[in-house]
Amino acid sequence: MLHAILFACLLVAALASPAPLDSAVPPPVHIPNDHPLIFFHGRWDTAPETWWYASGSGFKINVQDLSSLVLNLGPNTTFPVVALGVSVNYEPFFNLNASAGANVIPLALPHKRPGATTVVRINAEMYFDSQMNLESINLNAGAKLVLYKPSKIAFEFIGDSFSTVNGILNAWDFLIGETFKAEETVVAQPGATLVVRIKFIGFPKDEFSFGNVHGMSFQFFRTEDTSYFYNPIHNFTTPWDFRRDVPERTHVVVHIGANDASQSVDQAVFVSTYIDFLATIRNLYPHQPFFLFTPWGWPSPDGPNAFYYPGAYEAVLAARQSLGDNNMFLVNTTGWVTYADVFPDNLHPSVEGHAKIAGLFQQWLEDWGLHPSKEWSNP
Ligand SMILES: *[C@@H]1O[C@H](CO)[C@@H](O)[C@H](O)[C@H]1NC(C)=O
Ligand SMILES: *[C@@H]1O[C@H](CO)[C@@H](O)[C@H](O)[C@H]1NC(C)=O
Ligand SMILES: *[C@@H]1O[C@H](CO)[C@@H](O)[C@H](O)[C@H]1NC(C)=O
Ligand SMILES: *[C@@H]1O[C@H](CO)[C@@H](O)[C@H](O)[C@H]1NC(C)=O
Repeated sequence: MLHAILFACLLVAALASPAPLDSAVPPPVHIPNDHPLIFFHGRWDTAPETWWYASGSGFKINVQDLSSLVLNLGPNTTFPVVALGVSVNYEPFFNLNASAGANVIPLALPHKRPGATTVVRINAEMYFDSQMNLESINLNAGAKLVLYKPSKIAFEFIGDSFSTVNGILNAWDFLIGETFKAEETVVAQPGATLVVRIKFIGFPKDEFSFGNVHGMSFQFFRTEDTSYFYNPIHNFTTPWDFRRDVPERTHVVVHIGANDASQSVDQAVFVSTYIDFLATIRNLYPHQPFFLFTPWGWPSPDGPNAFYYPGAYEAVLAARQSLGDNNMFLVNTTGWVTYADVFPDNLHPSVEGHAKIAGLFQQWLEDWGLHPSKEWSNP
């Protein structure tokens, strides 16, 4: 009884006078989404919200004296959750489901001397329903945003479902970015062709490729991926301003064509589309080496992989070389993916298969002359 009365009195006192104690607690450091020291990567619209589901679009920050971080997401965040990848201090990424509103990011920071900095990287990570609408970030009182120095190597990966695996964190392209301690952007759309629209022979109407209203030779140049078409509140696309890709890309990797082949796009049409596409992106990336993957083919349980477009990739390369462009290279992926490396149900590489591809491409790049950075750019 006495306890109950005492408790009630304390409760009343606490409710009546919260101010004196609270005013001693310094407020958190509030970082609005337009803060110039937020390092955005990937494709963001004006909300700002992430697009290109398979792409790991996100941001990085470098913070002095960090001890807590709350991510405030806006109403355009995927409902009910958006799957995020989070990496603190360049540790491996972990998954976190976040929602519109305040999300406490678990940091598990080691003890650091005062003034030490911490890099936090946060990506939207699933290959569908993956929109993060960044409103603001709250840091502990005393924390300070400092410059995030981008890596010297910056990859641009262009692809389809072969460039993702249940999201981006385990995909070969993302793994290459991590291994080379690089910046990377993956602009990949599962199911997308390279050709803008597919036309079935004898069928008068343009058709979609596995739900994609456009192919990559159109959509690559847009802020939004093709899922915009199914989005009732954002059913439009806007041009992507490539000046927003900071730092300038250093290497461009293209792995495309499987969906064109699956949709029976004529080889000559595919080749001419690819040549035109490379000419267009050469203007965006005038001096960067391009690495063009040949197909690794569709593995089967009893026999060799099924290949598509024989000779097409060689023809594309030869066409560029005949124009004097000798800064493009075929990456011959024949033999890289066997039946053991795929999910048997859909013949796409498994998580282990992606790790194998990353290892083989790393070796290829090292033989070519590109080696991983020894240190991350923000120690
Ligand atoms: C965010 O969502 C609102 C509706 O909830 C919509 O009106 C607005 O256009 C969206 N913003 C973007 C950039 O898509
Ligand atoms: C996130 O939510 C999905 C269901 O929406 C669930 O399958 C997954 O395990 C969750 N991931 C984490 C890390 O909590
Ligand atoms: C988006 O607009 C197109 C017409 O441009 C329409 O066919 C489609 O149904 C719309 N999608 C949604 C989700 O409203
Ligand atoms: C790719 O490698 C395979 C196997 O080594 C070889 O048969 C094929 O000719 C190569 N293709 C090109 C374009 O070099």
